[in-house]
Amino acid sequence: MINSTNRITILGIESSCDDTSAAIVRDGCVVSNIMATQEIHRKYGGVVPELASRAHQQNIIPVVDQAIKSAGVTLGDIDAVAFTRGPGLMGSLLVGSSFAKGFALSLQIPLIEVNHLRAHVLVHFINDLHRNLNFPEFPFLCLLVSGGHTQLVVMNDFLEMETIGQTIDDAAGEAFDKCAKILGLPYPGGPLIDKLAQSGDPHAFSFSKPKVPGLNYSFSGLKTSFLYFIRDALKENPSFVSRQKNNLAASLQRIIIEILMQKFIRAASETGITQLGIAGGVSANSGLRKALKEEAKKRGWTVYVPDFRYTTDNAAMIAITGYYKFLKKQFSDQSVTPEARLPV
Ligand code: KG4
Ligand code: ZN
Repeated sequence: MINSTNRITILGIESSCDDTSAAIVRDGCVVSNIMATQEIHRKYGGVVPELASRAHQQNIIPVVDQAIKSAGVTLGDIDAVAFTRGPGLMGSLLVGSSFAKGFALSLQIPLIEVNHLRAHVLVHFINDLHRNLNFPEFPFLCLLVSGGHTQLVVMNDFLEMETIGQTIDDAAGEAFDKCAKILGLPYPGGPLIDKLAQSGDPHAFSFSKPKVPGLNYSFSGLKTSFLYFIRDALKENPSFVSRQKNNLAASLQRIIIEILMQKFIRAASETGITQLGIAGGVSANSGLRKALKEEAKKRGWTVYVPDFRYTTDNAAMIAITGYYKFLKKQFSDQSVTPEARLPV
């Protein structure tokens, strides 16, 4: 099954939301990671599912073609194709999974389904051509924070993961994006809040924090209190948002980070785990990265922060998960179908 050079080469395909991506991983090392981000959703202030599926349909062949060419491999070198089975938007998942099935069938190679959430965590086990990274040791505690998910995941081995806490309503990225929309910022607002926050006062305003038991999170209350606060302030002063944009962004970011870190610290102390990391789109946030590093110094943790290119959705994370599943011969058959909801 392994190609003539005895190197394991995996093609990864990601199409769960609004990024079409393909990557080649050889022997656990990323050699190409191509992404087509769909700009069309910006003007609608969020991802429009039908437009996302159509854009995936247009992008998938050129993106895969470019990933294979820029990796310098041939079709004959590819040992298996890994694809995102879920969770995600059904119409988007269908494009990637159908493509992967056809690709596997035509080349007579194994098909590997990948859980998108697990793949986000596995970015901490990616090598790339330019450097050999130190991987976390097991058990590893990862805070997965994206536009659709907020979860505390304990990883006991490459393919052994368990969720010990999660949001009961909105995800952290959703809180960033929805509050940014209230400020009149375009989608996705998270990176813009991060940028504005750099020159704002994080203590200018305060918003109430949720009281959720255990290791679970909640972000819907924060969004509502932010909305009411802005609405009342605008009644008093119509230029409030434009004058206070940086302070509002910095204060909002501080609260979201405090909420995230509070349960992260609790999870670390309850499990006794000292190898910690963050993953997912929100792990690109500069304030969260700083807070994690500061806490690590105080508490003696070893922390892992992913490269920016591996924070948001990408196929390198799908291909690396495919690589670890290939080593264990965890293959799927042609009857596999996408799942919009799929737990870790
Ligand atoms: O992981 P991802 O690309 O997609 C999902 O699986 O959801 O995450 C996208 C999310 C969006 O909500 C976006 O606003 C947020 O990640 N995000 C950020 C930053 N960069 C991306 N949030 C805060 N600060 C950032 N720098
Ligand atoms: Zn994601």
